Amino acid sequence: MGTLRLFSVQIAIALLLLTQAKSTTTKDMPVHPNNTSTSCIADERYALVTFREGLSDPANLLSSWKGDDCCRWKGVKCSNKTGHVIRLDLQGPDCDNSEFSIQLRNSPDSLQVLNLTSLEELDLSGNHFHKRGSPNWFWDLTSLKSLDISSNAFYGPFPHEIGNLTSMVNLDLSSTDLVGMIPSNMKNLCNLEGLFFYESNINGSIEEFFQRLPSCSWNKLQTLDLYNCNLTGHLPAMLSPITNLLWLDLSSNQLTGELTKLTRLSMESNNLDGVIYEGHLSRLNMLEELTLSGNSIAIIVSPTWVPPFSLRIFELRNCQLGPKFPAWLRWQTHLNSLDISNTSISDMVPDWFWVLASSVQFLNIRDNRITGVLPSTMEFMRGEIMDFSSNQLSGPIPKLPMNLTNLNISKNSLVGLLPLDIGAPRLETLVLYGNYISGTIPSYLCKLQLLTLLDISENNLTGLVLDCQDNKSTTNMTSLSILNLSLRNNNLSGDFPSFLQNCKKLIFLDLSYNKFSGNLPTWIRQKLPSLVFLRLRSNMFYGHIPEELTLMFNLQYLDLAYNNLTGSIPRSIGNYKGMIQRRDGDDGFEYAFQQGSISIDGNEMVEYSENFKVVTKGQERLYTGEVIYMVNLDLSCNNLIGEIPEEIATLVELKSLNLSWNTFSGKIPEMIGALVQVESLDLSHNELSGEIPTSLSALTSLSRLNMSYNNLSGMVPSGNQLQSLEDPLYIYIGNPGLCGPPLPRNCSHLEPIPANQELHEDVVSFFIAMGSGYVIALWVVFCTFLFKRKWRVSWFSHCDSLYDQVYVLVAVTWASLTRRNA
Ligand SMILES: *[C@@H]1O[C@H](CO)[C@@H](O)[C@H](O)[C@H]1NC(C)=O
Ligand SMILES: *[C@@H]1O[C@H](CO)[C@@H](O)[C@H](O)[C@H]1NC(C)=O
Ligand SMILES: *[C@@H]1O[C@H](CO)[C@@H](O)[C@H](O)[C@H]1NC(C)=O
Ligand SMILES: *[C@@H]1O[C@H](CO)[C@@H](O)[C@H](O)[C@H]1NC(C)=O
Ligand SMILES: *[C@@H]1O[C@H](CO)[C@@H](O)[C@H](O)[C@H]1NC(C)=O
Ligand SMILES: *[C@@H]1O[C@H](CO)[C@@H](O)[C@H](O)[C@H]1NC(C)=O
Ligand SMILES: *[C@@H]1O[C@H](CO)[C@@H](O)[C@H](O)[C@H]1NC(C)=O
Ligand SMILES: *[C@@H]1O[C@H](CO)[C@@H](O)[C@H](O)[C@H]1NC(C)=O
Ligand SMILES: *[C@@H]1O[C@H](CO)[C@@H](O)[C@H](O)[C@H]1NC(C)=O
Ligand SMILES: *[C@@H]1O[C@H](CO)[C@@H](O)[C@H](O)[C@H]1NC(C)=O
Ligand SMILES: *[C@@H]1O[C@H](CO)[C@@H](O)[C@H](O)[C@H]1NC(C)=O
Ligand SMILES: *[C@@H]1O[C@H](CO)[C@@H](O)[C@H](O)[C@H]1NC(C)=O
Repeated sequence: MGTLRLFSVQIAIALLLLTQAKSTTTKDMPVHPNNTSTSCIADERYALVTFREGLSDPANLLSSWKGDDCCRWKGVKCSNKTGHVIRLDLQGPDCDNSEFSIQLRNSPDSLQVLNLTSLEELDLSGNHFHKRGSPNWFWDLTSLKSLDISSNAFYGPFPHEIGNLTSMVNLDLSSTDLVGMIPSNMKNLCNLEGLFFYESNINGSIEEFFQRLPSCSWNKLQTLDLYNCNLTGHLPAMLSPITNLLWLDLSSNQLTGELTKLTRLSMESNNLDGVIYEGHLSRLNMLEELTLSGNSIAIIVSPTWVPPFSLRIFELRNCQLGPKFPAWLRWQTHLNSLDISNTSISDMVPDWFWVLASSVQFLNIRDNRITGVLPSTMEFMRGEIMDFSSNQLSGPIPKLPMNLTNLNISKNSLVGLLPLDIGAPRLETLVLYGNYISGTIPSYLCKLQLLTLLDISENNLTGLVLDCQDNKSTTNMTSLSILNLSLRNNNLSGDFPSFLQNCKKLIFLDLSYNKFSGNLPTWIRQKLPSLVFLRLRSNMFYGHIPEELTLMFNLQYLDLAYNNLTGSIPRSIGNYKGMIQRRDGDDGFEYAFQQGSISIDGNEMVEYSENFKVVTKGQERLYTGEVIYMVNLDLSCNNLIGEIPEEIATLVELKSLNLSWNTFSGKIPEMIGALVQVESLDLSHNELSGEIPTSLSALTSLSRLNMSYNNLSGMVPSGNQLQSLEDPLYIYIGNPGLCGPPLPRNCSHLEPIPANQELHEDVVSFFIAMGSGYVIALWVVFCTFLFKRKWRVSWFSHCDSLYDQVYVLVAVTWASLTRRNA
């Protein structure tokens, strides 16, 4: 019949929790100033006493209402500035947390006795006032901002005096016996944010009701509760100007309505739930925008339904459209923005979808179980931003839309080669990880001068990585914009890719789990000055760690594990500023990840978070979005030799240090305890000898430690975190010379060394041992002594004098150095 029946209104039932919204207006407990300097204003006290005398208070709940200082009476709050009574909380037993139950004996009707000129909040809800709505004393309180008389038995028509309360912000007249249309002078309430009428017998037309609402407050009104109000008539189109409405409840009324003129139905992120049937939509001839993203609404229509509207914008993220691919979308051929991500579609993508999708600029179908293939070419589609990730799309990647800037097709089942000409010259982000793409990386990618993020990890790519240089005149390779490049987990081979010399801005580089070989490049420092994350894990790189690599000050994450590197660790390893200084948050390299996500009007159209597996604490963990906080040095499983340079202890922000499975010899750096952030420390399977430094007990963040299979001797250090580590035996196994708990061998032949004193000497010798080249690093370390509470508490609390001594030492060293340099 073309009517929008009662049910349809459930669309609009924003079930923002009623209680939540109410609690902001009614649940605030009165504050009793314990020692208020504002004793009560005499007129107000008189007014309150008079008021009280008008009440019957059988339970004597107002017994505290005596004495001079009415500000201390229960339920009364005075302004601590002016001393005026500003709040009266007399909530009755029908409400939660109530303490009062007061009724009408001869409660005063008018203001003659009442002089509470500053009262802002009055709560009389849930009492047993059974009296006409008007006259009544509280209508004269024109200063009121919040009035709650709900759940009482006031009767008669809604009083005209409401219109006097022009300061009103929250008005609650719910569940009374007041009846009829609201007074027309409510138009004066220009500050209204919340209006509650639920279970009132308004018994009239909703059009009239809306006409009587104050249009001057439409940009403020957030809550409108008209549940069960006997409203009749048509759902008013004038709803739309109430721009900030967060919560609208029109349920349980007798509304009919046609929304034939409605062009925009937008109820994003309302926690709405419910079902929209085709009948609800069948008269919305003019609808152009339907945005319900972020609700749990299901749309259920017959497979043959032809909608009367043609949408430009359709956004239904996280709602329920599936499991079948919604056939009625077929008729939406003018879509400009389409977001049906996470809508439980588990179906094959129909051919017509690509036809309508060709007009769509912003297309998001991620997080469904959509099967099928991409069209054979997408070149002439209008798409600029597309997210197909986390589906089951198969087949090859076609030539991409010419205006495309952002594409995410990660976590699908795409196969075949990357197209030789991928199109899309304006591409900025290309995210293809987690497919079965094979073949080589086409040199065409070198032409994508705007590309900042390329993630083709976890595919089946083979061969040499393109060498953009050898690309004739068509390509100008003087610089690429790329910030974030991940080729992890493929079958790529050849030398460290030389085209990276053109990527001056590169921040994140992941070549791990491939078959790259050759020496690490010495140009890396000069050509990749911005690099923060470098992962070369599980390749076949060999040769020495070039000193240049240790002079890349920004590096915060270096993983060279599982290669064939030889030689020793350059002493310059202590130079990684990125591992010495805490990130201050505005170094801006998060940008390397963030640009993979694009929002439009607050709607995430394309999402990207690095899916980065980090091996730490002995297990591989998936890091998503937190990798920027990882500070990691992993050189494990190589053929490195020599001593572990003492300078490694300057890298005080390290969270994970793994040097296991090499052939390191000599002693463990005495100052290893300086790495107070370290959560995982693995020195196992080397040839380390000597005693384990007692400073180890300063590692209070430690949760995994492995010293096994070395040649360590002497007493196992104890204290602090060391006591709580799991598998204590395993930590030290394979070191026959070690003794003391937790090992079975005791150290009776050894004198125990008092930990503090040892520590003391360690620190001093550490600073002495550092040559002038390390002054900067040392200074940084020292600053952490000064400013980092955790450090000082955990380590220095028991040796305060040490702190002074270090300070003096550093100051002297610094002074002498500056003198020498001068
Ligand atoms: C203030 O309140 C505390 C406890 O809430 C009480 O111990 C103290 O005596 C009160 N002080 C005055 C001046 O009322
Ligand atoms: C309470 O108020 C009186 C004066 O009104 C003042 O002298 C006293 O210090 C106050 N006590 C507290 C605990 O604030
Ligand atoms: C007055 O009350 C406000 C809020 O109740 C409070 O934030 C403020 O600290 C109080 N001022 C004094 C002087 O007690
Ligand atoms: C109300 O207060 C005003 C000023 O505080 C005073 O002049 C007036 O007499 C009071 N009225 C009553 C009825 O107490
Ligand atoms: C309050 O409203 C009534 C009826 O609408 C009106 O007669 C009266 O003058 C108003 N009082 C004030 C103080 O505005
Ligand atoms: C609605 O109106 C009917 C009769 O007109 C009445 O019985 C019912 O109580 C009303 N509902 C409310 C919530 O007042
Ligand atoms: C509700 O309105 C109808 C007519 O619109 C009227 O007949 C009826 O008496 C009203 N009910 C109440 C409780 O006011
Ligand atoms: C998908 O939507 C459901 C609710 O409809 C929500 O619980 C879930 O977190 C969403 N999934 C994603 C990946 O956003
Ligand atoms: C690409 O963008 C240009 C202008 O920015 C526009 O003229 C052209 O029609 C677009 N192409 C497609 C296929 O949308
Ligand atoms: C990956 O490529 C290899 C050879 O290049 C091939 O044998 C293998 O089947 C491919 N795997 C997948 C899942 O496509
Ligand atoms: C390559 O780019 C550089 C600067 O971006 C420019 O100076 C040079 O002329 C370009 N060369 C060609 C062949 O386009
Ligand atoms: C490691 O490098 C050495 C030469 O430096 C070479 O002989 C050996 O085969 C390499 N091992 C692997 C597994 O690549």
